Amino acid sequence: MSTDSLPVELKYWPIKRYMDTYKKSVDNIEEFWEQEARKLDWFSTWDRVLDWDIPFAKWFPGGMLNASYLCVDKHLKNWRRNKVAIYWVGEDGEEKTLSYLQLHKEVNKLAAALQEMGVKDGDRVAFYLPMIVELPIAMLACARLGAIHTVVFSGFSSQALADRINHTEANVVITADGGFRRGKIIELKSIVDDAVKDTPSVKKVLVVKRTGHDIEMQEGRDVWYHDVVRHQEKTVPPLPVESTHPLFILYTSGTTGKPKGIVHSTGGYLVYINSVYRTVFNIQEDSVYWCNADIGWVTGHSFIVYAPLLNGASIVMYEGAPDYPTPDRWWQIIEDYKITTLYTSPTAIRMFMALGEKWVKKHDLSSLSILGSVGEPINPEAWMWYFKNIGGERCPIVDTWWQTETGGIMISPAPGIGLVPLKPGSATFPLPGIDVDVVDENGKPVPDGVRGYIIIKKPWPGMALTVYKDPARFKETYWTRFPGAYYAGDYCMRDDDGYLWLLGRADEVLKVAGHRLGTVELESAMVSHPSVAEAAVASKPHEIKGESIVVFAVLKEGISPSDELAKELRTHMRNTVGPFATPENIYFVTKLPKTRSGKIMRRVLKALVAGQSIGDISTLEDKASVEEAKQAFEEFQRLTKK
Ligand code: PRX
Repeated sequence: MSTDSLPVELKYWPIKRYMDTYKKSVDNIEEFWEQEARKLDWFSTWDRVLDWDIPFAKWFPGGMLNASYLCVDKHLKNWRRNKVAIYWVGEDGEEKTLSYLQLHKEVNKLAAALQEMGVKDGDRVAFYLPMIVELPIAMLACARLGAIHTVVFSGFSSQALADRINHTEANVVITADGGFRRGKIIELKSIVDDAVKDTPSVKKVLVVKRTGHDIEMQEGRDVWYHDVVRHQEKTVPPLPVESTHPLFILYTSGTTGKPKGIVHSTGGYLVYINSVYRTVFNIQEDSVYWCNADIGWVTGHSFIVYAPLLNGASIVMYEGAPDYPTPDRWWQIIEDYKITTLYTSPTAIRMFMALGEKWVKKHDLSSLSILGSVGEPINPEAWMWYFKNIGGERCPIVDTWWQTETGGIMISPAPGIGLVPLKPGSATFPLPGIDVDVVDENGKPVPDGVRGYIIIKKPWPGMALTVYKDPARFKETYWTRFPGAYYAGDYCMRDDDGYLWLLGRADEVLKVAGHRLGTVELESAMVSHPSVAEAAVASKPHEIKGESIVVFAVLKEGISPSDELAKELRTHMRNTVGPFATPENIYFVTKLPKTRSGKIMRRVLKALVAGQSIGDISTLEDKASVEEAKQAFEEFQRLTKK
């Protein structure tokens, strides 16, 4: 790719030069990460860099710090106090701007209000909020007090919210009267009302007024946010916490029916994301940075809130749908705010590709200088479209591979230290301090060009502390398959030039529009419907969303399949998990393909719906079930083609 039009500081580095820098960092990870830790302002320094009792890492033990202080107060000491911290754009056109000084005021008011409600060090506070400024404010207010936040994506159902509140035993829930999405109001408060019917730990529900429409407030339990912050005048000193103090818990899907509460630390996590944010996005003082993920996912935690604010960057936050009221809403925002750095998902890019270039061409996107991608593999066509149409063939694309569990980006081009030549669809090389390998079933490195599993061989500061209330599961899920190394659950291939190609999940986890969903979790949601006896969930390639959900359902005795029932089951899944988990197709069958030991062979179903060869089915208990699933699928295709 030609580098002529790239800004001087972004000219490509020879791979060897990058690899030399990289090698130095992984040869002595403790030295490298200690240097990175010095870039933050600690209240007192650490006793040691790392205590490593596999798989539990304590980074910088003894060091004291506070996330809210580092993201806000620190910037008040210099000219940045008047720099814009957050530009907020509501879907309805409302706009808000908060300087670091104003952010400090708002965070303190809420921290004081939470303190009045009895929230203290170590308490858990649950959030169910739209993309409004009160969300980062509330995260920082909790961190100020040493309280641990658990943000629940506002697309989750009341059941999923209740499960998370109960598991964390949160005593306060912060929500809003509603949020705007495609011009309609999402009734968040009534979902919270439903959820808290069965959550004995909740004492208070704090409600932000966003839409202003009528909602019910329960006397004694529900309080308006504006009422409790209005009279707060004092500043709340940020509580120094030890480096391994949990900053947040974030639930994510895995291979079992129960989502895992991933716990992140304060010190290690902040050191890590601070480091990778600079390395990957090459953030400058005048950068205007927009990550348009939802804060309900890890990308939003790390790369909307904590890393940018630690760096004193100006961020943009947008509340609503990307194509509302017109498909050029995003491009309008980029033009309006002169955004320099855009971080988004392959699904969004493919959606805009499908809408056509005319919407992009209406806008001046010349302020952009770096483009990012995250959440799922980006196909080369989408990469090229993004590079050409959004980046004007001028902006490098940082394809960033990482996970909720890793805290921050692990594999990505690194324009902040030296950009290597890019290959569309490859996340290129690991970042400094991250020691990766690609191995086979037995943990042996695979030759170049051969698909294997990506593993991480040394601890890194952003790694999760544990799975909340279940350290055994942390060990079992990530650290047992390849002893001593972290198993990420993704396929990967290294090419002849050493570039890494992340090839999707190797386990029973789906990525639907970048959202992570466990097949077993979806199957349990399906069988909680009174008509369903058994269900198997598989994914099917989808042009825009990457993957979509298909369900094979066995009905209970006496229940007949019908279009109405299929519709009802789709609604049931939306209500039980959330709208983003709506199945694309439901096939009714009388048996599921299973192994002799009774395990559902989801790969058979996956191959079937993708039109691929089914492969080895010698362990199948009943071959007729594959035939039947095939017939149900073909029948469906025949009917839908009519
Ligand atoms: O399969 C990988 C995919 O997303 C998974 C992690 O999902 P989650 O914890 O929800 O975090 C998403 C945001 C970091 C990974 O196991 N994934 C993420 N980024 C990429 C990716 N797959 C390929 N390329 C990426 N850049």
